[in-house]
Amino acid sequence: MSHEAVEKNAGLLILFIIIVISFGGLVEIVPLFFMKDTTQPVAGLKPYSPLRLEGRDIYVREGCYVCHSQMIRPFRAETERYGHYSVAGEFVYDHPFQWGSKRTGPDLARVGGRYSDDWHRVHLINPRDVVPESNMPGFPWLAENELDGKLTAKKMRVMNTLIAATCNGCELYTEEQIAKAADEVRGKTELDALIAYLQGLGTALKGK
Ligand code: HEC
Repeated sequence: MSHEAVEKNAGLLILFIIIVISFGGLVEIVPLFFMKDTTQPVAGLKPYSPLRLEGRDIYVREGCYVCHSQMIRPFRAETERYGHYSVAGEFVYDHPFQWGSKRTGPDLARVGGRYSDDWHRVHLINPRDVVPESNMPGFPWLAENELDGKLTAKKMRVMNTLIAATCNGCELYTEEQIAKAADEVRGKTELDALIAYLQGLGTALKGK
């Protein structure tokens, strides 16, 4: 078959283009499934505690990811501002991940420990009380909504399924941890849970 025949036949051209692009994609993507760097947790990384797991769901529900990424790129301007760039092994317990690329506000990948719990409390209820020029919306209802813990154990079981399917060397929740989970979160507010989540972000790799 001559080159001309391929170029003159749109169907054939499309087919070959698809084959070439798929091959290129597979060569780039498939090795990532087998590399330890991308499938194993970084040292010291733990699964989310029940309270932090609940906080993470609130982060997703409230759409914090619409304005905040959790992915520090390996450029000097980013590492000087936020700390060590993000690595794949930090996200093995994240289902779904919260990387994002939209930064109306700062990246939050290493916000853990940067502020006190009290700062977050004031900031999340009304950001302008601590950052006068802020255009982040307030989330005052989080302080009033209490967690009942009814779904916490179920969520942990789902996480176990996802983690076991995607990660080598990750810790799974034990039956004992799952049994205690509801009691750990019951009576805490959604704000407590969200702050617990934020305070853990990026801490496993901090200072390296
Ligand atoms: C409409 C966009 C928007 C949304 C939605 C939003 N933020 Fe923000 N956020 C900002 C902006 C802008 C700033 C920078 C000004 C400030 O500190 O308030 C910020 C700052 C922050 C900071 C301080 C970061 C730092 O390093 O100083 C935290 C923490 C934070 N946001 C958490 C959240 C959480 C949690 C949610 C969801 C409940 C959320 N944000 C939703 C825009 C947003």
